[in-house]
Amino acid sequence: MCGIVAYIGHKSAKPILLEGLKRLEYRGYDSAGLAVMNANIHVARTVGRVRVLEEMLKQHEGFDGTLGIAHTRWATHGEPSERNAHPHRDDESNGHGIVLIHNGIIENYTVLRKYLQDRGHTFQSDTDTEVLAHLIGELYDGDLEAAVQAALREVTGAYAIAVICENEPDVLVVARKGSPLMVGVGKDEYIVASDSSAIVAHTTQAFHLEDYTVARLTRDAFRTTTIDNVPISPQIKELEFDLGQIDLGDYEHYMLKEIFEQPQALRLCLKGRINPRDGQVVLGGITEFARDLVKAKRIIFVGQGTAFHAAMVSEYLMEDLAKIPTEVEFSSEFRYRNPIIQDGTVLIAISQSGETADTIAALQEGKQRGALTLGLVNVVGSTISRETDAGVYLRVGPEIGVASTKAFLGQLMVATMLATFIGRRRFLAADYVSSLLDELETIPDCVEKVTQLSDQIHDVTAKYADRENWLFLGRGYNYPVALEGALKLKEISYIHAEGMPAAELKHGAIALVDAETPVVALALQDELYDKMRANIQEVQVRGGPVLAIATEGDADIAASVDDVLWVPSCPEELAPVITAVPLQLFAYHTAVYHGCDVDQPRNLAKSVTVE
Ligand code: AGP
Repeated sequence: MCGIVAYIGHKSAKPILLEGLKRLEYRGYDSAGLAVMNANIHVARTVGRVRVLEEMLKQHEGFDGTLGIAHTRWATHGEPSERNAHPHRDDESNGHGIVLIHNGIIENYTVLRKYLQDRGHTFQSDTDTEVLAHLIGELYDGDLEAAVQAALREVTGAYAIAVICENEPDVLVVARKGSPLMVGVGKDEYIVASDSSAIVAHTTQAFHLEDYTVARLTRDAFRTTTIDNVPISPQIKELEFDLGQIDLGDYEHYMLKEIFEQPQALRLCLKGRINPRDGQVVLGGITEFARDLVKAKRIIFVGQGTAFHAAMVSEYLMEDLAKIPTEVEFSSEFRYRNPIIQDGTVLIAISQSGETADTIAALQEGKQRGALTLGLVNVVGSTISRETDAGVYLRVGPEIGVASTKAFLGQLMVATMLATFIGRRRFLAADYVSSLLDELETIPDCVEKVTQLSDQIHDVTAKYADRENWLFLGRGYNYPVALEGALKLKEISYIHAEGMPAAELKHGAIALVDAETPVVALALQDELYDKMRANIQEVQVRGGPVLAIATEGDADIAASVDDVLWVPSCPEELAPVITAVPLQLFAYHTAVYHGCDVDQPRNLAKSVTVE
């Protein structure tokens, strides 16, 4: 996905646009560009980060206008290059001077491109976005808003766009379908952006554009309609976003900051939601549907990436605590497989951003087939949080690092509370729930204790830094954590890592085990401990080095593996919240050791808003 920001008002647009792009850079960062209206439209684009664009603009005149649009890209169509960077113009021959930025995918762009080429258009890039700019130019007849509406009626796919036109130098037109876009309402100015992080420095009054909505903005007014020009009234709300939450502070990277924030983030996640003494969980966002949840016949969790791993843990939690048949699916698989949804089915979407395209689509698929839908989401007001029937916010604060850390732990905590909330209304005894909530309340402190392993993990990292392949093994609740640990390592250090159920090792992957292939084994003193010890021996007799994540005080395992990282003892249902932390730090220190860009790893983006 990409980050887009636009400004119309009485201040110089350029600094506002550049600052906004920096706030949105975690959304995509392979190229950047901006366009400013100043008699005519001046465009600057470059490969690389926003700072490269900023340096480039110091050498250019003409970018002093008070209307502009800007974009930071995660490439979908067309390799990262200056010619494929946004903004894109319509055909010069049209002479309308239309310039556009876009986040999303125009799925029928090849058909539209052929149609336009047959009408004499020539294209400068490989992008779907340029085709949309040309289509608007082709349909332009003196009214930019009307041309944008007409063009979007021809388009299939997802878009969040901002468009300006030299023939209408005081108008900004924006529109949205499937990719997020918000409009910040200031005093005689508007700032439009992909999310509130680029808006809140200018105003706390904003509204989300709904799907198929077009907004026409001038300095003193705005109008919102559907793409069929039917007027609609957006709901302007107070933004709940504190910029202080996304300051890097003294940390070198957002990922490290967010790992160390986890104890406090989890305390906020729990605050006001659990009462161990009474054995009660209070989740305001689902109270209205408590009976539907208690009587649910089947629960389906959907998610991608780290959220999918959280969904896997949630499956175990829901069946153990609520005793409701539960399954978990990749959003991208669920949405296309013609799923069977019977009465009493609850679909729960897990997502940090609330904007993952496949998870939105899976949610919509479940909803239209009659499922009750819930969202476990971090970003307030995100698409998933608005499309679900109910939900629970993670409340762990903004997560900027592309590698998800505190959001993962927040997802696990909320899933535990949700399963306990339902289970307490089904078969769980009050005293069992009270003791579980007592333990849950200690988890932030346990996580804080594990973060203190950071220096030790740094040293272990150096010992294995030259290894090019890793296996991560776990059983039961820690099987999803093995997958998550492997994902963390590969996505920020570019080292191949594979997670799997420990027992699966013997069914093929054990062929990979040798002295050059270390194995991370999650071997806590739980009911599967002896099985894990046997798996560790299977690795060791084949020369594989073993790094164990083990329960504090387990001297026996310490004597038998190459390295061990200790975690506090806790009920197995809560173990993933703790065992994930050393793996986050291991991935972090490995990536730093190799000089990788921890917060903005190559080829990745914070939220995948395209399919
Ligand atoms: C995890 O570190 C990655 N950033 C990625 O797998 C992420 O979890 C996935 O894209 C889902 O994002 P979401 O939680 O915002 O839906």
